[in-house]
Amino acid sequence: MRAVVVEQWGGPENLVEREVDRPEPGLNEVLVRVHAAGVNPVDWKTRAGGALIEWGAVPAVGWDVSGTVEAVGPGVGIFRPGDEVFGMPLFPRQAGGYAEYVVAPARHLAPKPASLTHVEAAALPLAALTAWQALVDAADVRPGERVLVHAAAGGVGHFAVQIAKARGAYVIGTASAAKHELVRELGADEVIDYRENRFEDVVSDVDVVLDGLGGETAERSLTVLREGGRLITLPGPDDVPAAPDGVLAAWVLVEPDHLGLREIAALVEQGRLKPVVDTVLPLAEAAKAHEIGERGRTTGKIVLTVA
Ligand SMILES: NC(=O)c1ccc[n+]([C@@H]2O[C@H](COP(=O)([O-])OP(=O)(O)OC[C@H]3O[C@@H](n4cnc5c(N)ncnc54)[C@H](OP(=O)(O)O)[C@@H]3O)[C@@H](O)[C@H]2O)c1
Repeated sequence: MRAVVVEQWGGPENLVEREVDRPEPGLNEVLVRVHAAGVNPVDWKTRAGGALIEWGAVPAVGWDVSGTVEAVGPGVGIFRPGDEVFGMPLFPRQAGGYAEYVVAPARHLAPKPASLTHVEAAALPLAALTAWQALVDAADVRPGERVLVHAAAGGVGHFAVQIAKARGAYVIGTASAAKHELVRELGADEVIDYRENRFEDVVSDVDVVLDGLGGETAERSLTVLREGGRLITLPGPDDVPAAPDGVLAAWVLVEPDHLGLREIAALVEQGRLKPVVDTVLPLAEAAKAHEIGERGRTTGKIVLTVA
């Protein structure tokens, strides 16, 4: 099968297309024919040599996939060949999503929302699960709470705005001015132009901050939280600032999550969550997708078409 692999850690030029063996599904595993593969910052961070865990010799980056079940291994009860599925198998271990086929533990996948194309569905898993697991599982956002989403037009942020809104929160997002209309359309009650204002000068009494930026943004975010507030920061564990008593500050790492994917699919089918796809490129142009993504200006998601 065709796959894009990382020949050696480094720049996007190290992403190369190769013929590799098609994987076989084992116990409780599913072989998925990939139609589209989503691209995430962790893909280029891994390609550059910053793998979250130790990997073997030939890394195959990419986790987000949407496709069709080609075969099931012994013991799989929830899928049959021909089912349309989406998910982010095996993260943060190697999955090899930039390929024609991928093997996944069955419950690292869920039925693809019928109303979405494979390109749209491939935009969802890692970023939408991150937003879900941060806001719902970790921060337990409640109706009426004030939620501040940094980088609200980005991959995680644009899902976070919609999920917080669906939970009944009052949502404030940060984005550059050109993206404000979109962030409002996604449900934000207020949008802050982070280039014109320091957010801590214009927002206060926040219950939950979802921070996709880390560093000094995480530090400054503590100042807008009220007693009982929760700061969930995403880039890495070193970005978590020391929080005062009564405030939670934590790094959350997304994990494969069958039930979370089902919740996300349900929101899609209810018309309360939609992926925004900024750029679609063929698998062979994975390097270009990384170059674009690494500029850090993506609106929504970048997706590779495979089948
Ligand atoms: N812990 C986890 O499990 C987990 C999961 C997913 C992602 N992450 C991490 O979370 C971070 C965000 O991921 P992502 O997929 O959302 O990235 P992304 O899609 O590449 O984010 C791009 C967005 O960031 C915005 N942005 C850049 N600087 C900003 C600033 N100072 N204030 C407000 N917005 C700003 C840009 O908007 P403008 O063009 O308007 O600047 C752009 O829309 C990455 O570091 C990623 O590795 C962690």
